[in-house]
Amino acid sequence: MRILFIGDVYNELGQKAFNKYFTQVKNQYKPNFIIVNGENIEKTNGLSEKIYKEYLTQGVNVFTLGNHAFSRKDYKEVLDLPYVTRPANYGKNTPGKEYVEVKYNDKKIAVINLIGRIFMNDPTDNPFLKMDELLEKITADYIIVDFHAEATSEKYAMAYYLDGRVDAVIGTHTHVPTADNIVLPKGTLYLSDVGMTGAKYGIIGGNVEQGIRKFLSGVPERVKPEENSVLQFNAVFLDLVNKKIERINIFE
Ligand SMILES: [Fe+2]
Ligand SMILES: [Fe+2]
Repeated sequence: MRILFIGDVYNELGQKAFNKYFTQVKNQYKPNFIIVNGENIEKTNGLSEKIYKEYLTQGVNVFTLGNHAFSRKDYKEVLDLPYVTRPANYGKNTPGKEYVEVKYNDKKIAVINLIGRIFMNDPTDNPFLKMDELLEKITADYIIVDFHAEATSEKYAMAYYLDGRVDAVIGTHTHVPTADNIVLPKGTLYLSDVGMTGAKYGIIGGNVEQGIRKFLSGVPERVKPEENSVLQFNAVFLDLVNKKIERINIFE
């Protein structure tokens, strides 16, 4: 089972980078299944039904999200779309699905999205205990986890906690790709962060001048995406059967 996982596609330049590199990467790696973290894909952050449909037509199978899952006015409708999953540990009353299961030939693939609690603002449930609960009921042949979190310590703890229980634990959210792709002792594939797809020159996708100004003034501002930059495209390729994990980092 060959999986392509593309990291946070960030705003308009993210879509531009996706359009520029997706087909080339797909043709090179020939994945059976494609996952995109789409939490920041729209200008308003969040995912829209329009983008969902466009990307599914191009071969994307599942969208994962993160702390921006609820950023758009239409988030409830988007979370109801069949191949979209939000972080499972938001809680019982949160709209959306805790995971998605998709059939591929005679196999079933489950995609789970989780959100971390270290240096994150939302009052979420314990993601470790949530995983125990989910793994009791999920019967899929392959299980892939997108752990949307800030702290590498939390990501590593999750990776070892799930080693041998899921096929892959892939980190998102920091927008900075890490170089620690490994096969854990019990066979789970792991990477702390895939990185983002969008502006190469930016403050994790945000406008440079604004990003510096906020640190100089101390005054909070809503992040403006960087609009003038060459591109980056970051993804990871997973071969679940042959236990291979390869980073794909394109920086123009
Ligand atoms: Fe993001
Ligand atoms: Fe995020």
